[in-house]
Order: sequence, then C-alpha cells, then structure tokens
Amino acid sequence: MFPSFSDQRSLCRASAIPNGYFLLLLIISVLIINSAACSNRNCQVLEPCSLPTDCGPGLYCGNCPAMGKNQPICTRGQATIPTTIINGLPFNKYSWLMTHNAFSIVDAPPLPGVQRITFYNQEDTVTNQLRNGVRGLMLDMYDFENDIWLCHSFRGQCYNFTAFQPAINTLKEVETFLSENPSEIVTIVIEDYVHTTKGLTNLFTNAGLDKYWFPVSKMPRKGEDWPTVTDMVQENHRLLVFTSIASKEADEGIAYQWRYMVENEPGDGGVVQGSCPNRKESRPLNSKSASLFLQNSFPSFPVESDSCKEHSATVGELVGTCYKAAGNVMPNFLAVNFYMRSDGGGVFDVLDGMNGQTLCGCSSVAACQAGAPFGTCKNVAVSNTTQTPNTFGSFSGSVQLSGSASTIHFMNLLYFFLLFFSFLVFQL
Ligand SMILES: *[C@@H]1O[C@H](CO)[C@@H](O)[C@H](O)[C@H]1NC(C)=O
Ligand SMILES: *[C@@H]1O[C@H](CO)[C@@H](O)[C@H](O)[C@H]1NC(C)=O
Repeated sequence: MFPSFSDQRSLCRASAIPNGYFLLLLIISVLIINSAACSNRNCQVLEPCSLPTDCGPGLYCGNCPAMGKNQPICTRGQATIPTTIINGLPFNKYSWLMTHNAFSIVDAPPLPGVQRITFYNQEDTVTNQLRNGVRGLMLDMYDFENDIWLCHSFRGQCYNFTAFQPAINTLKEVETFLSENPSEIVTIVIEDYVHTTKGLTNLFTNAGLDKYWFPVSKMPRKGEDWPTVTDMVQENHRLLVFTSIASKEADEGIAYQWRYMVENEPGDGGVVQGSCPNRKESRPLNSKSASLFLQNSFPSFPVESDSCKEHSATVGELVGTCYKAAGNVMPNFLAVNFYMRSDGGGVFDVLDGMNGQTLCGCSSVAACQAGAPFGTCKNVAVSNTTQTPNTFGSFSGSVQLSGSASTIHFMNLLYFFLLFFSFLVFQL
C-alpha cells in the first residue's frame, strides 16, 4: 500500500497562482526539478522526492512543516535490527524502538454508534509497527465488556467512547509476527487496569503467546546481564511482558515492571532538555539494580504534526541526558509517539547511534562489524545507514501514515476538556 501522507497536499497549493506566466515558469521548473531529481526507489535519505516510489528501501517520501520543511524528502521509516549486525550479546546490551500507546491508532474504527473522544499516538497497525522494526509496545489494558480491552482512559475505567478494541486482537498480531520471524524478540509493557482473576494469563494464553513467554524466574533482579539474545531465541523465550501491578508477579507470574526496569518520567516531564528525572514508581535511574532502562520521550499531549520536530535533533539530546543520568547506561527502550515522523533520520538514526555506541563503540550500528574488536568501525556516511541488512523485505508494504493533523489536534483539545471537566466534577 502506498503512503497516504496528508501533508503532501501542500504541494498542490501552487495551483492557486493566478497568472499564466507564473504557471509556465512553474511547469518549467517542475520539469527541471523532475529531470534532475532521483526517482524509482533510487533516492537516498534527505533527497527531495515527489512520489512514494521515489525513495529507496526503508524510506518514505515525507515532509516536516512544523520545522518549515515543506519540501518532501526521503525520510526513514524503518529501524535497523541491531541483532542482524551484532548478534549474541545479552539482551540488555541492545536498544529498541518502543511505541507509546501502540494501540491508539489514528483511523482505528470506534465502537459502532459511538464517537470516540480520546487522543492518538500512532498512525499504523501494530503489525506494521513490528514490520518497521518496533520491538516494544506500550499497551493500556482494562476490564471492559466482560473482556480485556485496549483503551485510553482515566481513573482506571474504560468507557465506550475511549475504547479501541479487545486486547486479544492486537496480541494475535504479535503472535503472528513472532511465529513468522523466529529470531525476533518483542517486549510488551502493560499499563494494567485489569482486575479480573487471571485475566492477563488467560488473555495471553488465548492469543497463543504463552509459548514465547520469558519466565519471570529467569529475569535478573540485581542488575546482572540478561541471557543472550541467541539463548532467548533458542529457548523460544521471545516475549517479555511487564505489568504495572506488583501483585501479579506472585499471582500470575507476570513480571512487575519496576523490579526489572528503571524508567524516566513519561510525558512532559520526560522531554525537558538537560533533565531526566525518574518516574515515581521507578528506582533512581543510576541505581544499577535493574538491568533494563526505559526512556520515555514524548509530550503528554500527542500532536501528530509536531512529532517530526520532536524527532529531529531533540530526541538525541534527551537520550544523551538520560544516558548520563543513568550513570552512563544506554536506554534499552526508546518510547515515542508517531515514531515514523521526522525531518530525515528521526528516532531511527538516534537508535542506530545508541546501538553503535554500546555494541561496538562506533557512531552508528551501521559501522559495526561482526567479530571485529570493540572500536573497529566501518567508514559509513550517514546517508548509508539505511543500507544495513533488513530481513523484512520491501518497505512498500509498511507505510501507513494517515490522518489529518488538524482533526487530531481538535480531538486532543476535546479530550483535554473532558479530562478537565471530569476532574472538576470529581473534586466537587
Ligand atoms: C455508551 O455507554 C453509555 C453509558 O456509559 C451508554 O449510555 C450508551 O448507550 C453506550 N453507547 C453505545 C452505542 O453502546
Ligand atoms: C554511500 O552510498 C552511495 C550510493 O549508494 C555510494 O556512492 C557511497 O560511496 C557510499 N558511501 C560510503 C561511505 O560507503
């Protein structure tokens, strides 16, 4: 499917020019640009493009008006899978892309007869996210309609106007991905509002995910290394699940997130330059008693059209700050909204840098060489980072950017209003 990137509509504004002379000039200049420009999947990252099919593998044609960059350029849309370059290290040596509210998808159909009032964080299906190299999913789960639903809500209750869909649908997408990609490892972080006895256990079993379950008894508790990714693949322990409810670890064998992971503050508190405070449920980032580190890097209210700006230079700086705050430990998960949006390299370049530094001491994982001593780096230009091996085939199947930024913004405001209103009501 070709991307339907609404922002490209700005290209057509030129048709409003009234004067025939200018129109002629425009046609000539378009001809010149087209004849000079690359095309036919030959364009590299940052090169101007006009059609979705212009850009090379792993790229889509997009722009970033929020930064004044209206000219569409080839933009990264797919992560490098670090284990395809340097394999066999402990799981906690790698950094992975995580989608915040992976289920809260623009254009997801609402319940029949209900207008959904909530905000959105992503633009493509979970299957598509996984195909593009996302390896961590943040999911909010609630008891709803005698089932467990993915929902965006407040005060621990899901409503028909904040609901997305039964969680099993999304978990079955994960199951399909894990069965089709037998060397991939996926992490699910649950914001857990499920109180049904064994609710999550039954859910994961019914989705066919129990066979991939990483047992909580094997998770390191004192800051030791995790098993290697090769061991995890061999044992088929390829699904890590964490809950926010501590008692479920004893009751259901589901790992309590903050026993194994440190985490910075989510939302606005996590995107302040030069500061990386820990989330209140988490131990201090530099405690070194948890082997995994989750970095949240998204504003409290997601604005689709602003996310390309957030994913330009600033994410990299925030990672640097959090790395230092954690005592020079690299985040293992980088959680973002609208992960594909950027002005070129985005979170994908940042992750390549993170993995490069940890796995081989190079500026990008693309410069790492299997078997070479630490610090031995291939000479790669930035624009070649997308040429790293990727086992996920042609990119054209995986772009699903959609939605209109203005609608999203409007829905955010509505949601905000609603939250505020309910807050007032509860206070009275
Ligand atoms: C949605 O829930 C409300 C109560 O919370 C109910 O009155 C309404 O009928 C529901 N709508 C649908 C279409 O189920
Ligand atoms: C990057 O790729 C381009 C074209 O694909 C090639 O000409 C160039 O030599 C490459 N640069 C490096 C440093 O490998």
